[in-house]
Amino acid sequence: MESGTPEPFSPEMLADPYPAYSAMRERGRIQRTAAGHWLVLGYDEVSQLLTDQRFGEAAGRGGRIRLSRTTREGPHRLLGRVDTMLSVDPPEHTRLRRLVSKAFTPRSVQKMRPLIQEIVNELLDGLDGRTEFDLVSELAWPLPVTVIAEMLGIPRQDRERFKRWSDAMVATLGGDYSSLDEARRSNEELVEYVSRVIAARRRQPQDDLISRLVAAEESGQRLSEDEMLGTVALLLVAGNETTTHLISSGMLVLLRNPAQMARLREDPSLFPSAIDEMLRYTGPVHTTRRTAREDVSLGDARIRRGDVVVGILAAANRDPNKYEDPDRFDVARNPTDHVAFGDGIHFCLGAALARLEGQIAIGTLLRRFPNLQLLDDQPEWAGTSAIRGVTSVRLRQ
Ligand code: HEM
Repeated sequence: MESGTPEPFSPEMLADPYPAYSAMRERGRIQRTAAGHWLVLGYDEVSQLLTDQRFGEAAGRGGRIRLSRTTREGPHRLLGRVDTMLSVDPPEHTRLRRLVSKAFTPRSVQKMRPLIQEIVNELLDGLDGRTEFDLVSELAWPLPVTVIAEMLGIPRQDRERFKRWSDAMVATLGGDYSSLDEARRSNEELVEYVSRVIAARRRQPQDDLISRLVAAEESGQRLSEDEMLGTVALLLVAGNETTTHLISSGMLVLLRNPAQMARLREDPSLFPSAIDEMLRYTGPVHTTRRTAREDVSLGDARIRRGDVVVGILAAANRDPNKYEDPDRFDVARNPTDHVAFGDGIHFCLGAALARLEGQIAIGTLLRRFPNLQLLDDQPEWAGTSAIRGVTSVRLRQ
């Protein structure tokens, strides 16, 4: 974790890390590891870690984006990692975030409701009479990348390629480097493709996010091309796999709790609360990290300048000091103060979008399929200590 690369998790931890978090929390809400960094498991302590400006360099090197490009020296040249809003502190953070934040406000995102509904309908129409299907490959995986491609202004005929590149890029982040060459090629193709879209929008702006990035001027300063590429790549990397996992793990929890599912079917006004409860109970991002910029007290720990501090968001969201009966899944709980989207200045830019996609995807599934059944109650989980999700959720309608 110190290098910014998340640690692998055993299959048992991936399938259910919560008993281990709970046992660890009982030993100490903040702990020092043998490697010398800190683990934070309590809700109040994680909140302080994320909101106290004495902790910085969000997500460490993991927040930087790798860009490869063909250069005169030859193909597959790694340009190196570029900083993104997720890896830098203010004032750089403020500049990079402000340029795209307008597109992600709850108001802007609400305008996308009809489009998201249309994409969900199209994906579910594709199931056409099939009695069994995998929720992940049919809906949870294609939805977020299609939505973000639309927001960026990627033409429809290029969606498939765009999706392939994006998937390959995200795959390497999960610690799977088995297809590194392919990932690098995809990265390069994606970078080249987005560069061409940027050039086209320079000549002729449209009503999309890439045009807005091109046009953006903050204190007279335009974004450099690498910063634009880094921003586009960050949106794919931070937004796609996470939203996929919200939809698939969220549905899995609902199907494992039939009384809660029945309650939601009876009272759809509970949907916003149910989605936040899914994020609290089984949120996809488990950890993030900060570095202490000066000596600071956190709970009863004295953290030294330069120490790496890992916040376990998923443990904080099940802290019994914060939530009553935290291991109970309750669609009416409405825990909007969970930290599944982080907190403070790096609070998830895409939170409103992810919530809306989750509500529409799961809401439409429940409406269209009144008799959904889980075919495999023990699906395979994949991920690392940082992000976790199921690889498939097989359903019968
Ligand atoms: C359920 C889905 C999602 C979850 C659980 C999630 C979680 C998070 C978390 C925990 C952080 C803070 C990381 C930190 O403080 O170190 C974050 C930041 C971020 N997220 Fe999300 N995210 C989701 C969806 C999205 C979507 C859909 C997008 C955009 C399309 C997005 C874009 C971002 C960006 C750009 C940041 C960095 C913000 C900053 O540094 O100021 N996320 N997300």
